[in-house]
Amino acid sequence: SGPGTAALVASRVLDVPDFPKPGVMFKDLMPLFADGDVFREVIDGIVAYHGRDSFDVVVGIEARGFVVAAAIAYATGVGVVPVRKAGKLPRPAYSASYALEYGEATLEVHEDAFTAGHRVLVVDDVLATGGTAEATLDLVERAGGTVSGFTVLLELAFLGGRERLAPRPVHALLTV
Ligand code: PRP
Repeated sequence: SGPGTAALVASRVLDVPDFPKPGVMFKDLMPLFADGDVFREVIDGIVAYHGRDSFDVVVGIEARGFVVAAAIAYATGVGVVPVRKAGKLPRPAYSASYALEYGEATLEVHEDAFTAGHRVLVVDDVLATGGTAEATLDLVERAGGTVSGFTVLLELAFLGGRERLAPRPVHALLTV
């Protein structure tokens, strides 16, 4: 996942002004998901970066992270664990909340989601403030997984997510 995949991500992201609210520039990666050749190259780039034997399971963060996680899982023969927004999981789950600009958000994972010691690759489409990722990494560890890596397609560096997650490493295909 060198300059090749960075250029691919750059070529398939759309900037949408004032979504979901005025003043926010939304980074829409659905054109990347919709392009089969580019999507495959991006998924293969993520797998190559980490090494296909470096993780036992992949976690995707609701909702766009599910798309990335499922593809990596299928490509490598591992399973997927979804980290979901509050109230969606049917069985006992761990919860992690984090502050938003107004209010808070909560993510959840099933208590039995991981085999103890399993190495977990966590993926999402975009890293912004890092609140979503921080909560997810905490959930994985509380549920008995070992985080082996965290990758996003696009990192918005000016929002400080990487610093928030430090010292845990962040891998981004494209940083803007
Ligand atoms: C977006 C994105 C990340 C998160 C990043 O998800 O897909 O999960 O925000 O933001 P943060 O780093 O500031 O926490 P969104 O909340 O839009 O959820 P969705 O994919 O379900 O629409």
